[in-house]
Amino acid sequence: MTAEESSKDIGRVVLAFSGGLDTSVAAVWLRERYGVEVITVTVDVGQNEDFKDIEAKAEKLGVVKHYTLDCKKEFVEGYVFRSVKANGLYQGEYPLSSALSRPLIASKCVHIALEEGADAIAHGCTGKGNDQLRFEITIKSLAPNLKILAPVRDWGFNRSWEVDYALKHGIPIKPKREKYSIDVNLWGRSVECGPLEDISSHPPEDAFEWTILPWKAPDKPEEVSIRFENGIPVALNGEVMDGVKLISSLNSLAGLHGIGRIDHIEERTVGIKTREVYEAPAATCILKAHKDLEKLVLTGRELKFKEYVDAEWSNLVYTGLWMEPLREALDAFIDVIEERVCGEITLRMYRGSLTILSRRSEYSLYDEELARYSGSSTFDQKWAEGFITLWGLPTILSRKFHPKKISGRCVYGGC
Ligand code: ARG
Repeated sequence: MTAEESSKDIGRVVLAFSGGLDTSVAAVWLRERYGVEVITVTVDVGQNEDFKDIEAKAEKLGVVKHYTLDCKKEFVEGYVFRSVKANGLYQGEYPLSSALSRPLIASKCVHIALEEGADAIAHGCTGKGNDQLRFEITIKSLAPNLKILAPVRDWGFNRSWEVDYALKHGIPIKPKREKYSIDVNLWGRSVECGPLEDISSHPPEDAFEWTILPWKAPDKPEEVSIRFENGIPVALNGEVMDGVKLISSLNSLAGLHGIGRIDHIEERTVGIKTREVYEAPAATCILKAHKDLEKLVLTGRELKFKEYVDAEWSNLVYTGLWMEPLREALDAFIDVIEERVCGEITLRMYRGSLTILSRRSEYSLYDEELARYSGSSTFDQKWAEGFITLWGLPTILSRKFHPKKISGRCVYGGC
């Protein structure tokens, strides 16, 4: 179906509206070109915007209704904390911040579309990114009868055309914002495009907002302790707090020490390699502490198996498959394992570096008597000899039948 055909017979559209250039242009375009009624939905996932301003902007663009939904708590408890338990990182670096917010935003849009009797949901994603997958797969999984409009992708908007269109239609734009493509929520800030596309140069300092340049951070280390219960952070420096407060406090604290800048080459689901810059101070601290605590309380077998589970979980979420039943099945496994991930980890932050200082847990498997080298230990070293024979048996046996020559000589007789 062409973009023109898919927009036929649509009376009302719910538009996932961030207030940025793409979705502002989309709001006007959908209304002017197709005469549809546009309802905008802005989901607060901790992007710290002036939501009154966004609402006023939506009204100025001629939408029939605007919703602002405060979903910070739901985002943290239903998405971010799941990711903490799964050590959620894509390609070992990206804490999935944007990826986690999309299924929540999409499901809120579906909810409103059904309530408002809309025929379609529109989003402002391009055809090159991952967000289109996350939106559309969530929408199609929840409400297959709703149409999906992707004006930026399907009508081929590009940024300079959008700026012209905005100027012509009196859509206010913020020049600094338009230099990059930025997406923000409590779990992180993603920055793409513009000067970042030149991978041979450093990201300009104006790409960053949450973190201080590490060598301009205070020349004084600071400690922070994080308490986990069932795999999720519940207290900071001994003070129990809800997830939203904990993450935002830690973002400010760690950002001041230049923690959480990420600059990596990422392979998108559509196959493109891109340069992505993130700021995720709280995520960097929490994920590091969580992983460290897991090492203390889980057996080596659990850790090894969970590494596969975590990697698969992160891949599903990154590639838009939050709704996939496998993700829920992995979560069920993770929930059981994480019952013992309770304890406190203290970190030291200093000019961009993050070090573990101490760990404590009621489920610790660390037995000092067994581990210590000096004095008496409950580990009887005589156990080791027989253990080595049996542990190495298959390897030793295979070398007996398929000997490896040493200095050109066979060390077994008869070969
Ligand atoms: N590359 C990241 C991801 O796919 C970030 C996307 C952020 N979106 C944006 N419009 N800047 O999750």
